[in-house]
Amino acid sequence: MSVRLKLTLSYAGFLMIAGVLLLAAVWVFLLRYVPDRAMLINPDDRPDGVFPIRSVLLDVFAPRAAAVLAFLLVFGLVGGWILAGRMLAPLTRITDATRTATNGSLSHRIRLPGRKDEFRELADAFDAMLARLEAHVAEQQRFAANASHELRTPLAVSKALLDVARADPNQDTGEVIDRLHAVNTRAIDLTEALLLLSHADQRSFTREHVDLSLLAEEAVETLLPLAEKRGVTFETSGDITPTLGSHALLLQLTTNLVHNAIVHNLPEQGTVWVDTSARPDTVVLTVENTGEKLTPQQASTLTERFQRGTERVHTDHAGVGLGLAIVKTITHAHDGTLTLTPRPDGGIRIAVELPATTPGLS
Ligand SMILES: Nc1ncnc2c1ncn2[C@@H]1O[C@H](COP(=O)(O)OP(=O)(O)OP(=O)(O)O)[C@@H](O)[C@H]1O
Ligand SMILES: [Mg+2]
Repeated sequence: MSVRLKLTLSYAGFLMIAGVLLLAAVWVFLLRYVPDRAMLINPDDRPDGVFPIRSVLLDVFAPRAAAVLAFLLVFGLVGGWILAGRMLAPLTRITDATRTATNGSLSHRIRLPGRKDEFRELADAFDAMLARLEAHVAEQQRFAANASHELRTPLAVSKALLDVARADPNQDTGEVIDRLHAVNTRAIDLTEALLLLSHADQRSFTREHVDLSLLAEEAVETLLPLAEKRGVTFETSGDITPTLGSHALLLQLTTNLVHNAIVHNLPEQGTVWVDTSARPDTVVLTVENTGEKLTPQQASTLTERFQRGTERVHTDHAGVGLGLAIVKTITHAHDGTLTLTPRPDGGIRIAVELPATTPGLS
């Protein structure tokens, strides 16, 4: 039974009940003031000389009451059907939109006109969901396309190297092996980064107590040789910053940030500031470095997957452009926020804010 029919029947049913009650009330109140029978002045009219007022009244009243009830029934059914149809019209639009979305077209929107009511809210919420879904699907498609492209590059380079080696048997095999090794390493790094991304995306890690300041210390220590090679100096400071999360993932996050701060720094005499601070409900890790000037627009796109600076670079030494995407995914998986602010003098300041925990609690 359709909702429209149900609404129609209930509407008509209520109308009938109200009608019957009204008629009954009229009948009861009327009867109270009407004597049961009356003596006739002119007894010739009736053999017993008594006029049965009530039963005559009933004879007159009953058919009219029945007519009124029949009218109410028809009125209730027709009116109810039309009203229910009008009430449920937005629902039909929402259903149509859902069907369109199910068939794969996510660009369709309901855009329900009219005042804000429950249906309008449902339609607006549905539109918002469609918009998010569409953006998400588009991002996934871009990601899949980029990932296949990036993975194809090292394979194509290996094939070219092997082809050359096969065509020229006198070539120095040591050099070919070295270059193959480098290309292979890069492909493995890329695959590992992709695995890490999907792992963090699924949030399938166990949470333990970690101190961000210790992670920062560890990352800085590991990357110190690289920083020295590039003439970058570190300035670290920090409070104890306890939070809950995956030690391995948060260490990866910190390492990615510190690594970026070193390699995307000034060619010489660069500085990196690493700071951890504890706020009432959150802990913040800030990595700041000198470097080239960036506009806020550029800064906002850096966390996209496979985004490297302003253009995509294709040399063996370039990063794969997943470092900041991994940082963003890990931050979100830990219910945190990531903020990128370009520094006025060049370089960038990246802050990761995570929920704080009190050690010993929870
Ligand atoms: N600390 C930073 N200072 C200035 N630019 C940065 C910084 N961190 C990132 N960037 C810019 O953002 C881009 C994206 O960074 P991301 O870490 O995602 O990729 P990547 O470092 O190029 O490669 P990898 O995946 O190996 O980390 C970099 O290519 C660089 O242009
Ligand atoms: Mg990087």
